Amino acid sequence: MPQTNTIKLLLCSSVLYTTTQGHGQSTLAAGGPLWSISRDWSAAINKADEFVRNLTLAEKVSMVTGNLTAGSCIGNIAPIDRVGFTGLCVQDGPLGIRTADLASVFPAGLTIAASWDPDLMYSRGFALGEEFRGKGAHVYLGPSSGAIGRHPLGGRNWEGFGPDPHLNAIATQQTILGVQDAGVQACVKHYVGNEQETQRSNTETSNGTNILALSANIDDRTMHELYLWPFAQAIRSGVASVMCAYNRVNQTYTCENGPLLNDLLREELGFQGYVMSDFFAVHSGLESATAGLDMNMPGPLSQLNSESYFGKNLANLVANGSYPLEKLDDMVRRIMIPYFHLGQDQGYPSTDPTSLALLGASYGYHIVLNTTARDVRSNHSALIRKIAAEGTILLKNEDDVLPLDKPSVIGVFGNGATDPTSLYNAGSSASENGALLVGGGSGTGRATYVVSPLEALKTRAKADGSRIVWLTDNDALAASEPTSVYPTPDICLIFLKTFASEGVDRTSFEADWNSTMVVNNVASFCPKTVVILNSGGVNTMPWANNTKVQGILSAHYPGQEMGNSIVDVLYGLVNPSGRLPYTIPQNEEDSGPSIVNITGPFMNNSNAWQDDYTDGLLVDYRRYDALNITPLYEFGYGLSYTSFSLAPNVSITKLQQVISAKPIDQAVKPGGNPDLYTPLLSVRADVQNTGKVNGAAIPQLYVSLPQNSVPLGTPIRMLRSFKKIPLEFGQQVTVESLLSRKDLSFWDVESQNWIVPAGQITIEVGFSSRDLRAVGTVELL
Ligand SMILES: *[C@@H]1O[C@H](CO)[C@@H](O)[C@H](O)[C@H]1NC(C)=O
Ligand SMILES: *[C@@H]1O[C@H](CO)[C@@H](O)[C@H](O)[C@H]1NC(C)=O
Ligand SMILES: *[C@@H]1O[C@H](CO)[C@@H](O)[C@H](O)[C@H]1NC(C)=O
Ligand SMILES: *[C@@H]1O[C@H](CO)[C@@H](O)[C@H](O)[C@H]1NC(C)=O
Ligand SMILES: *[C@@H]1O[C@H](CO)[C@@H](O)[C@H](O)[C@H]1NC(C)=O
Ligand SMILES: *[C@@H]1O[C@H](CO)[C@@H](O)[C@H](O)[C@H]1NC(C)=O
Ligand SMILES: *[C@@H]1O[C@H](CO)[C@@H](O)[C@H](O)[C@H]1NC(C)=O
Ligand SMILES: *[C@@H]1O[C@H](CO)[C@@H](O)[C@H](O)[C@H]1NC(C)=O
Ligand SMILES: *[C@@H]1O[C@H](CO)[C@@H](O)[C@H](O)[C@H]1NC(C)=O
Ligand SMILES: *[C@@H]1O[C@H](CO)[C@@H](O)[C@H](O)[C@H]1NC(C)=O
Ligand SMILES: *[C@@H]1O[C@H](CO)[C@@H](O)[C@H](O)[C@H]1NC(C)=O
Ligand SMILES: *[C@@H]1O[C@H](CO)[C@@H](O)[C@H](O)[C@H]1NC(C)=O
Repeated sequence: MPQTNTIKLLLCSSVLYTTTQGHGQSTLAAGGPLWSISRDWSAAINKADEFVRNLTLAEKVSMVTGNLTAGSCIGNIAPIDRVGFTGLCVQDGPLGIRTADLASVFPAGLTIAASWDPDLMYSRGFALGEEFRGKGAHVYLGPSSGAIGRHPLGGRNWEGFGPDPHLNAIATQQTILGVQDAGVQACVKHYVGNEQETQRSNTETSNGTNILALSANIDDRTMHELYLWPFAQAIRSGVASVMCAYNRVNQTYTCENGPLLNDLLREELGFQGYVMSDFFAVHSGLESATAGLDMNMPGPLSQLNSESYFGKNLANLVANGSYPLEKLDDMVRRIMIPYFHLGQDQGYPSTDPTSLALLGASYGYHIVLNTTARDVRSNHSALIRKIAAEGTILLKNEDDVLPLDKPSVIGVFGNGATDPTSLYNAGSSASENGALLVGGGSGTGRATYVVSPLEALKTRAKADGSRIVWLTDNDALAASEPTSVYPTPDICLIFLKTFASEGVDRTSFEADWNSTMVVNNVASFCPKTVVILNSGGVNTMPWANNTKVQGILSAHYPGQEMGNSIVDVLYGLVNPSGRLPYTIPQNEEDSGPSIVNITGPFMNNSNAWQDDYTDGLLVDYRRYDALNITPLYEFGYGLSYTSFSLAPNVSITKLQQVISAKPIDQAVKPGGNPDLYTPLLSVRADVQNTGKVNGAAIPQLYVSLPQNSVPLGTPIRMLRSFKKIPLEFGQQVTVESLLSRKDLSFWDVESQNWIVPAGQITIEVGFSSRDLRAVGTVELL
């Protein structure tokens, strides 16, 4: 299927590269494994049509309404035995099959995003898909492509891929392709504007007043160029399902928002799958169905009230003519198209009855604890270890303090180093002591084991003949220098952590548990100090310019192999090539807009919770660039144990003789007007490994549209392509990026179209958003 392969390449940040080492030039195709499933949904559409024709009204309604007791999953669509349909099992997501035993805990979204590695993103998705399929789960609730992290302290930022729409879209796409190639439906979420947890849903005051959920008020251009961008890519990648979010957008709940669900997803982006609600995010029957909600999850009004906005209510609405039967048919059809397309009717594994085992005693659900779970972990631990190492970012490495070379005494400090006090609490703030492998809420995972940093370091130290000493009580470390530690280590490793969870936003920029006092006290005692951070997102680092802190590593939430992964990086078995998927500020005041948090009597006004996205497109590095703020470490930044160079010249080739400002009017296909994805430019740049060891370079291509012919608020530069390229020391390659029409356009609100601007477009290639080494210009029109 050469055609699919080409499309994939274009989507996948479009890189071909040629190597200039060895015998002449060879052109290598980059990108993940072949997309093995055809994108042609027509056969599945016919089957879905036939399936719908076979059903009674009650059965159709059952197909669109979750049912807590109809299966052993977090979301269940009941079987219809009469037509041989065995039901649908829907499971959290997104870093493992959360509620099941004998499943793996993978690195979180931010960790894989930090790898900047499309192939690994795909492999993670495929392995996740294998585990979901192995448990008989038809739907993976992921990827999380929003929250993007507009608010640095957003509680769920770690589940997703960060604030740059291109990097986010590539991770979204590769995850979906991987999961769906394994035969499992992906459900991209949270659509859209769920950028904070505070008042994400409605609440009720003690006198019964309904306080509406926060409304994210997002203008049309910002929606298209930022928040919708990864979702457009998801649809283009054939995603089965989109999950509408808890919050409101422009005053209307997303799950009953016609402009979001009907106009943007279906008409503009050509989405053929179904919209599923976030759990208990539905607030109406007729309005939601009319606006384009296809599946109400988990079904009932609450875990205590089995009535539903869909269910019997929807059946009545159809029976009395308020809601057209054809619309209900279309809902069922949309739900069944991906099911048939992915062959889930062809002998899918049965649901492991213990799939909800780890929910404990949750009311409403059908929980089975008395049988043994099916083990679906396979050999995924090796992949998990690799991903977390590749997703670890080296931020500081003064005097080449790393990699370690058989130190004689290693000091291990900080409460993130040891085993968690309970495996069950591994994703919980309740654990003061212990490695933080994962965040909290529905996106957590319960590991069957965890390799803590201390455990992995002890194993390595033993092999090297190093001694290892430790003090991991942060209260003691915050109180005074660790002078009782003897012998004085040659190198001190401090493991800090920052907890983040669904349901609450973070309240502090600094790492938790008196981290700054801990670092300062340890550093003043040690000859050399390296800080390792496990965090749910942006932290300030008041100790970053402490000259005794020579090394800093950021690993986010690495999953069950976290100790092995960090040891691989610390000792140089893996040369770090992670890059920041967001910007770290010098001071918290420099970072983006705060969480909306209304206190005082006004908080209980029904419509008080409003969030105007007046920052528009200027999120993260685009904001720092526009306001000329110097960050501590910028988006795209990260060090290596080798060094790379980029020749200052790029060569830019137009791929079409005549380029129009507007795309050719073509029938909408999944992803929108197909002409938006036509490559218009090829850009080549020369990258070399100039150091002494092998390592991967991550050249990044930023586009600057001509400010005088684009609307106000256009970012100074925008990432539009990147590639992770393993290079042997001394090796030089020419990297080629293809830029599509959409990559080079802005969304014009007036004409409701993507427009290529007149004037000079600047293309910069570099190693971060502020380390731009090569530049060229081009006029397209
Ligand atoms: C519909 O029903 C017919 C007759 O019972 C059966 O042969 C067919 O397989 C059914 N189709 C689907 C898609 O369930
Ligand atoms: C939920 O599913 C169970 C088992 O299939 C069924 O008995 C029950 O009637 C369903 N509940 C609703 C509200 O449809
Ligand atoms: C708002 O309502 C909640 C719930 O009834 C109540 O606990 C809280 O005190 C109220 N806040 C103010 C400022 O009145
Ligand atoms: C939200 O409102 C803004 C401002 O009126 C408008 O530009 C935008 O298109 C609206 N978005 C949706 C999805 O309704
Ligand atoms: C139709 O049924 C719905 C749901 O039971 C009800 O709310 C509505 O009032 C009915 N409409 C008519 C015209 O009977
Ligand atoms: C497990 O528990 C369920 C529900 O209580 C029961 O129906 C089933 O018989 C039990 N199975 C075994 C193997 O004990
Ligand atoms: C895991 O096993 C599969 C075959 O079952 C193999 O293709 C793959 O290379 C193995 N992966 C690792 C990381 O060992
Ligand atoms: C460390 O922080 C906790 C609160 O998180 C505080 O109660 C404690 O006093 C702090 N310890 C020191 C030594 O400052
Ligand atoms: C919001 O304000 C409340 C009351 O002051 C506070 O407890 C909470 O931590 C705040 N939340 C955030 C995310 O700042
Ligand atoms: C760096 O150190 C200076 C004082 O030496 C301090 O004022 C400044 O805040 C520090 N900056 C950071 C980012 O730590
Ligand atoms: C309930 O309390 C809110 C303020 O918290 C007030 O605005 C509203 O009028 C009260 N409603 C009733 C019915 O008392
Ligand atoms: C950059 O210039 C050098 C020297 O002229 C040339 O060899 C190289 O091919 C150019 N690279 C690109 C990407 O244009």
